[in-house]
Order: sequence, then C-alpha cells, then structure tokens
Amino acid sequence: MALLQNKTAVITGGNSGIGYATAADFLAKGAKVLITGRKPDAVQQAVATLGQETDSFIADQGKIEDSKKLAEYVRDRYGKIDILFVNAGVGTFANVTDVTEEAFDNIMDINLKGAFFTVQHLLPLINDGGTIILLSSVNAHSGMPGASVYSASKAGLNSLGRTLSRELSARRIRVNIVNPGPVDTPILEKAGVPKEAINPEHIASRLPLGRIGQPLEIARLVSFLASDEASFITGAEYNVDGGLSVHPLIG
Ligand SMILES: NC(=O)c1ccc[n+]([C@@H]2O[C@H](COP(=O)([O-])OP(=O)(O)OC[C@H]3O[C@@H](n4cnc5c(N)ncnc54)[C@H](OP(=O)(O)O)[C@@H]3O)[C@@H](O)[C@H]2O)c1
Repeated sequence: MALLQNKTAVITGGNSGIGYATAADFLAKGAKVLITGRKPDAVQQAVATLGQETDSFIADQGKIEDSKKLAEYVRDRYGKIDILFVNAGVGTFANVTDVTEEAFDNIMDINLKGAFFTVQHLLPLINDGGTIILLSSVNAHSGMPGASVYSASKAGLNSLGRTLSRELSARRIRVNIVNPGPVDTPILEKAGVPKEAINPEHIASRLPLGRIGQPLEIARLVSFLASDEASFITGAEYNVDGGLSVHPLIG
C-alpha cells in the first residue's frame, strides 16, 4: 500500500517551492491533497501541473477570516482530514533599525499568527490519530543578521509546535516541526531581494554538504512524518539543512 493511501491532506501555500513539492510527493504517495494559496493564477497553474485531482482553495493565510472560510470548505467537502501541513510563509529581511511596523506585522501575521489560527480552525476537522507538521526554519535557532523578525516568527512557531504536541496528545494527534536550511525556492526573490544579491555559491560553501537543498528533499521528510511510519514521533524538530546547524568553527 502507498505510504499515504487513504489520507486526506491540507497544505497551506501549496502553489510554490516546498509546499508544491510536498503536494506532488503526497499525491505520488497516494494522498488526497488540497493546496491553498493567495494568488488564484498561481494556484490554478499549480493544480494544472500537479494534476486535476488536486483540490485548491484561495486563502490568504495571514487573514483569520480566510482560515475560517478554509475550515468551512474543508468541513463541507471532506468532513475530516488526516494531515495538516502548515507551510505558507514569507521572509523579508532588514536590519533591526530598518524594520517598519508594517513589515513586522506582515511577517508575523502570516508566519505565526496565521499559522496559529489555521491550526485552531482546522483542528476540529483533523481525525483523532491525525497529524500536523509545521514548516519552520533553522533561523528559529540562529542569529542571522537581518532576519530578526523572520527568525522570531519561526521560533514562535517551534514553541507553538511543542505546546500543541502536548495539548493534542489526548487525541493522538502528532505534531512535529521541520527546520529547513537554505532551499532552492523563489522565497527570497518574492521578498524583493535582488537576484544578484543572492549568492548561491557562497551559501553552498557554508554548508557541509556543499550545496543548497531542493524542495523535494524537505518534502520527503514531511511525507514520512505525515505517515503512520512516524507513529511514535511527536513534539520533535528536524533540521534538514545540509549540516548547517553543526557547522564547526574549525575544520
Ligand atoms: N526556501 C528556503 O530556503 C526556506 C528555508 C527555511 C524555511 N523555509 C520556509 O518554507 C516555507 C515555504 O517557503 P518556500 O521556500 O517554499 O517559498 P515559496 O516558494 O515562496 O513558497 C511559499 C508558499 O507560501 C505561500 N504564501 C505566502 N504567504 C501566503 C499567504 N499569506 N497566504 C497563502 N499563501 C501564502 C506562497 O504563495 P505566493 O506564491 O503567493 O507567494 C507560496 O505558495 C516557508 O514557511 C518558509 O519560511 C524556506
């Protein structure tokens, strides 16, 4: 039997990057998949390439009203789901002195507040024994200059995951956290970082494995955590970062 046969999954921000790759991997492993996204054209294009059996819902995960509407749609369409992958996120980067309140709110609204209320609204629809995976970042534990708000939003998400794993254990809902290192997706370009300022060779040279990750390399771990193969894993955090988090000072 395929790894995710008979499972129904909701993936937030599934039209691009890691969310898209995870949707493709979930589908290949037998799951029914609904992706969300905020841009109808981008979502439609993703569905066209993932396959028409992929369901979609237009929602801005930074807006609580949209999370409520998503939950209503999911309840009416599926009744219950098995997997919630909270993936939608944005990264904008600036030194502390340059961060505006608007930029702060935008990151927190999507990465932390939006994640929180997406979980809250979908929780009654997750089957007992189901699972939630939160897509965080190695930034949750690092002190990267220019990433104060992004890193704080992800650190908050990891904290949320730990609490949820305890609160939801009575319903046997497993909650785990994935912390990617640098992955080849359009996230920085979308944040307005000029292409020439992104130096993939430099980033790759800082990683013990000597390269940036591919979205599918994150998706495969998410699929495992979403499956019954991970039945004894909850409250755990996994770095998928080419060894970045153990980069030695010397050697
Ligand atoms: N790439 C990396 O190096 C890296 C490393 C660590 C963690 N992450 C995390 O990985 C997750 C996925 O990012 P990615 O790298 O795959 O970037 P991406 O390709 O930009 O994917 C992000 C997805 O989230 C969606 N999204 C963003 N804000 C949204 C909102 N308000 N409502 C609904 N959807 C929204 C995006 O939609 P649009 O197409 O409309 O923007 C897109 O589908 C994020 O949480 C990110 O923080 C990425």
